[in-house]
Amino acid sequence: MQVGLKIWRYDSTTGDRALKEYEVDAPEEATLLDCLDIVKDRLDGSLAYRKSCRMMICGSCGMRMDGGAVLACKVRMYDMASAGHAPVISAMGNLPIVKDLVVDMEPFWQKFKAMKPWLQPGYDQPPADEEHVISQERMNVIHKESLCINCGCCVSECNSMESDPEFLGPQALAKGMRFVGDPRDAAKTERLDQYSAEHGIWDCTRCYFCNERCPKGVDPRDAIAKLGAEAMKAGIDEDMGAKHAKWFVHSAKTTGWLRETELVPKTQGIVSSIKEMKFAMGLAVKGKVPPPFPPHVAEGVKESRALFELVKEQGVDGALGIVQGERALSRLEHEVGHAAGGGGDTGVGSRDQADVSPGEEPTRKRGGE
Ligand code: SF4
Ligand code: SF4
Ligand code: FES
Repeated sequence: MQVGLKIWRYDSTTGDRALKEYEVDAPEEATLLDCLDIVKDRLDGSLAYRKSCRMMICGSCGMRMDGGAVLACKVRMYDMASAGHAPVISAMGNLPIVKDLVVDMEPFWQKFKAMKPWLQPGYDQPPADEEHVISQERMNVIHKESLCINCGCCVSECNSMESDPEFLGPQALAKGMRFVGDPRDAAKTERLDQYSAEHGIWDCTRCYFCNERCPKGVDPRDAIAKLGAEAMKAGIDEDMGAKHAKWFVHSAKTTGWLRETELVPKTQGIVSSIKEMKFAMGLAVKGKVPPPFPPHVAEGVKESRALFELVKEQGVDGALGIVQGERALSRLEHEVGHAAGGGGDTGVGSRDQADVSPGEEPTRKRGGE
């Protein structure tokens, strides 16, 4: 097949930048990386890009295709080539470009290291002939985070990092959750304190672009939500973002509604709210602000309160609750998919069953004895 590519060439030493067009003859199963190899081998040996494993494992080949980050070795070109579309290929965003499609990963690794991505010892050691076994339920909390290959595709697309380069970012925070959620780690509280500070958890805009672009299904935004839930559960809630989230919960529990007029004072404090008074009065005059008193209580508020109590009772008000929600959603999607003609669901051995839990024993003999 004939594959057209438009590649942004860049030389950081001279600042020269140009969009160059190439056309290559490639086999039908070719990936974007294969096509770049053909360009380099046959048309222009000066083209710079990174690669290693060629099979979505090493995380080297992150770049942008038509403005969105991809792993070049994951994207098949057949459909695009058949449609006559020549995609624009450029370097990843939010990282300095060294040459063509190669970015300087140093800022990425600095944030990665700042998360102290190793276990802080302190858990009870099992007896000599036994190993530490973590229950499936606890592993589910960090399963997705453990899949990260450090490719940087999420960082490339992060809105917060674009406006605040010091923001820890989706990859680093997902890595942080990998250790916060590990029951063997002895520094959970210190980590949550660190990640809740300025440029941390609460500076995420929740744009979800990182979830959309991650090629490994890590869903970094979900990891950040888990960190937020764990921080609040641990009483680390001084940040405005945490206060904001706390008020959502309190408001829903007490009235079944979000009481927006009280959101600003509860989140930003009284002094800041007074400064916003003129703006608030303008909204009230236009009928955009409901009167705060008496608070409007939803008809079904008892259900909302019961739900709150149930979550507390089950101890799933931290990351576990988010995992439970994800599983419930995926089960719904699964069922809707089947109802729409995807075949019958026996419910047996379904990949997205919520209650996969092989056991809770704290220790087990080596070799499965
Ligand atoms: S959801 Fe948050 S971390 Fe993810 S890309 Fe958006 S701002 Fe960045
Ligand atoms: S979270 Fe996903 S996109 Fe981000 S570095 Fe890890 S694998 Fe890549
Ligand atoms: S070359 Fe290793 S992930 Fe693409």
